[in-house]
Amino acid sequence: MSVSLSRYLVEQQRAKGNIPPELRLLLEVVARACKSISHSVNKGALGEVLGSAGSENVQGEIQKKLDIIANEVLIEANEWGGHLAAMASEEMDGIYMVPNRYPQGEYLLLFDPLDGSSNIDVNVSIGTIFSVFRRKSSVGDLANVNDFLQKGSEQVAAGYVIYGSSTMLVYTTGHGVNGFTLEPSIGEFCLSHENMRIPEDGTIYSINEGNLLSCSPGVQAYIQWCKETDKATQRPYSARYIGSLVADFHRNLIKGGIYIYPGTVKNQDGKLRLQYESNPLAFIVEQAGGKASDGVRRIMDIQPSSLHQRAPLFIGSKNMVELVERLIAEENA
Ligand code: AHG
Ligand code: MN
Ligand code: MN
Repeated sequence: MSVSLSRYLVEQQRAKGNIPPELRLLLEVVARACKSISHSVNKGALGEVLGSAGSENVQGEIQKKLDIIANEVLIEANEWGGHLAAMASEEMDGIYMVPNRYPQGEYLLLFDPLDGSSNIDVNVSIGTIFSVFRRKSSVGDLANVNDFLQKGSEQVAAGYVIYGSSTMLVYTTGHGVNGFTLEPSIGEFCLSHENMRIPEDGTIYSINEGNLLSCSPGVQAYIQWCKETDKATQRPYSARYIGSLVADFHRNLIKGGIYIYPGTVKNQDGKLRLQYESNPLAFIVEQAGGKASDGVRRIMDIQPSSLHQRAPLFIGSKNMVELVERLIAEENA
């Protein structure tokens, strides 16, 4: 039988010193919470988890029942462990302080509890994305929002869980990327994708092309380039867009490709949230040999100024991201 996530993490801690014990326990708890979310997702229409909750989040987006359920599951699982000081989520206005009846830890957990909400009701892959930082303020003090405004390069761990045809957890602590598949008969994540590497070139591009006419000329030029015929570069490329970032990212990580959510005329910073979506996936893609950019800068070098900040995202195979950056630079020259 393949190695379970728990065993893998213990071995990483023990033999390689790749992960401190508190961070290992934190990742175990996140994984356990995601198993519970996976269970709810799999019940589908029979679990009364589909549909809207009748509320909006701080970004004015309609909340689905599963957005709220997943958020609660992650909070309840993580608040008592003693490893965290506070959490922040796409679905909560402000930060969530660990209640003072529990011990305070040195870590901060950020998450997009349910990514791909528009696919919940139609049985298409969705996910959870998470990111871990060390707090900046001292452990004796209360954590505050400034603790969360750290560059992505300061992340100590990041990962996602995809609820697809199987459930998978993919994570990094800065020592490569590993993927684990949930074995439903024993309820354990088992190592299935060791040392994941993204091909330097790919033949897949993923963008919501309905928005293309309101994207910048550099982005339009890149998409046009993807569609041209050229044998040497295996063009035209294939367009693939699921509409769940986790699922589109996961496919491109394995096969090679680029995911793009650019700024548009209406939304200059695009749609995706820097701290809950872009930073964690940027950490993973870089650890797998790929790149993540906002078109001009490395995603993980962006200094956030607010909790729910958005940023354009170009992420995936290294050479693909570099080409679109060049076309954007030429447009700006
Ligand atoms: P969320 O469900 O967490 O709000 O994220 C949705 C995101 C992302 O998953 C996806 O790639 C993108 O929104 C799709 O947006 P469009 O429908 O505008 O293409
Ligand atoms: Mn999302
Ligand atoms: Mn979400």
